[in-house]
Amino acid sequence: MNLTLRQLKIFEAVARLLSYTRAAEELHLTQPAVSMQVKQLEAGVGLPLFEQLGKRIYLTEAGREMERYAHRILHTLEEAEQVFDELRGLERGRLHITVASTANYFVPQLLAAFCQRHPGVQVSLDVTNREGLLAALEDNVTDLVIMGKPPREMDLVAETFMDNPLVAIAAPSHPLAGERDIPLERLQQETFLIREKGSGTRSATERFFVEHGLSLSSTMEMSSSESIKQGVEAGLGLGLLSLHTLEMELALKRLVILDVRELPILRKWYIMYRAGKRLSAVATAFKQFVSNESASILDLPTL
Ligand code: PGA
Repeated sequence: MNLTLRQLKIFEAVARLLSYTRAAEELHLTQPAVSMQVKQLEAGVGLPLFEQLGKRIYLTEAGREMERYAHRILHTLEEAEQVFDELRGLERGRLHITVASTANYFVPQLLAAFCQRHPGVQVSLDVTNREGLLAALEDNVTDLVIMGKPPREMDLVAETFMDNPLVAIAAPSHPLAGERDIPLERLQQETFLIREKGSGTRSATERFFVEHGLSLSSTMEMSSSESIKQGVEAGLGLGLLSLHTLEMELALKRLVILDVRELPILRKWYIMYRAGKRLSAVATAFKQFVSNESASILDLPTL
């Protein structure tokens, strides 16, 4: 197969943006130059990589395979660049981290503190669900992952660095809001706004109720902590979320934490990478920074 790195980079941009025009803009090229490179790549592979339906373009099956390999090849190239950055010193390295959506409530603060200390470091942050996190680890396209529970099915080096308490929340006007020492069974009668399948918060909540021999009879599924908070505030039901997502709503008294006897659910945050991966100097420094300093940098609301 005859292809060039330039073609792969251009293909990656078109596949990510699903637009020749936007890829051309991002790469500071003309649109005909971009489609020409993609055509040459398709000729090299002997298969179409994109198909056009109406005004939109889509990846073909071959295109999706090519996208996977392009990510791996370009990431390996990045790794090589990191090695040379490392030889030039920590101050000019790159850091790619991937985090679960709930971790996005505190990771930018950690990155800001880290970048203040190492101003030359170039950071990229991906926020995704559990499936995305597993794929990023599997395809070796990220340096470090931050999530709630390391997947059992993968050989990882995982270190816990902070508590992640999950608490029940309600609108301040909810009848349970002022009650003390509420038994967990009482919550069964309530509607719960729960996260989508694949969310760590969701699976921890489900496990917790099963362990207590209980089940939630009425639930409404929402795909982000933000929509759950809005829904709870509007009186749609109760929620069970990480305390890390609630700082602003608690401070503004838009939501209250319910005093439930068996809560909070005690979880932890982990920072991890694939066993055997060669961590760059920057990634090693960031991992140490997170382990040693997150508690002092992050201001968790008190329970
Ligand atoms: P989330 O939480 O997937 O519910 O955002 C992260 C985790 O607990 O792993």
